[in-house]
Amino acid sequence: MTVTVRAPAKINLHLGVGAPRSDGFHPLMTVYHAVDLYDVVTVSAAADWSVSVEAAGPVDVSGVPTDDTNLAIRAGRALADRHGLDRTARIEVRKGIPVAGGMAGGSADAAATLVALDRLWELDSGDALLFDLAAELGSDVPFGLVGRNALGTGRGEHVEQLPGVEVVRHWVVVPGTGGLSTPAVYRRFDELTPGAPKEPRAPYRLVEFLGDPVADVAPLLHNDLQAAALDLRPGLGGLLAAGEAAGALRGLVSGSGPTCVFLCESAASAEAVAERLRSSYAVALTATGPVTGALGR
Ligand code: C5P
Repeated sequence: MTVTVRAPAKINLHLGVGAPRSDGFHPLMTVYHAVDLYDVVTVSAAADWSVSVEAAGPVDVSGVPTDDTNLAIRAGRALADRHGLDRTARIEVRKGIPVAGGMAGGSADAAATLVALDRLWELDSGDALLFDLAAELGSDVPFGLVGRNALGTGRGEHVEQLPGVEVVRHWVVVPGTGGLSTPAVYRRFDELTPGAPKEPRAPYRLVEFLGDPVADVAPLLHNDLQAAALDLRPGLGGLLAAGEAAGALRGLVSGSGPTCVFLCESAASAEAVAERLRSSYAVALTATGPVTGALGR
């Protein structure tokens, strides 16, 4: 028997970052937005843990670990441990989420694995347990469970869905090359922002207008990590400018980068912007959001 669950990529429409806490993590106020680039996870019973990763689309999977450090295996082990079970499974991941960073692909795999193994093993864990495990696995994993649009607080792991804001948004996604380490981007943020407030910047106006089909939300997109990512990868500045020159309403570094996302006016505009960017950048994907997370509701 196999169980298949998919989980979406995320974009941070707003990422407010405060001064580091005593545990080293940064307090966040973020608006997560799930888009229809998916990792599809299939689990089946097996004598030992294993994970295989293959590309679904123009995604380079060569950098994804397939040993015990893979977040999907860690998710599977954590679920078995929490239930006191000595179970193992084979995990197959088909990746449609750029591996380059900033779109929470690893977190999506962990979220999908939790849901898939919960069903395969007929555990009926319930939301509280799944969200608790997800938060332990990584700051973005709980959002992978819910998807759509959600407010993220704490270190990003407390998610609260934003109902009634299902206006379809059109995006172009350009995976940055060379990767960017998330801890390194946060460290650079600390160096560039010595006076960062304890309370991260809140997304009040964005939340107010997110459900309004005619409101122009482009100027309200915001990422406090963008300056740090651009400092570490100056080439991203040229990419953001190229996307806006190609017709996007707004370009933004996604999360800690290096992937950049471009909000476009329509599906046709996103196609045109992607086509123009492909003359200089190897991969430019189109995507729409919001979409549901691994729980599928
Ligand atoms: O939680 P996650 O495993 O995704 O975090 C990866 C790294 O990113 C952390 O070890 C930390 O260095 C940094 N981080 C942070 N503040 C956050 C989230 C992540 O400093 N809110």
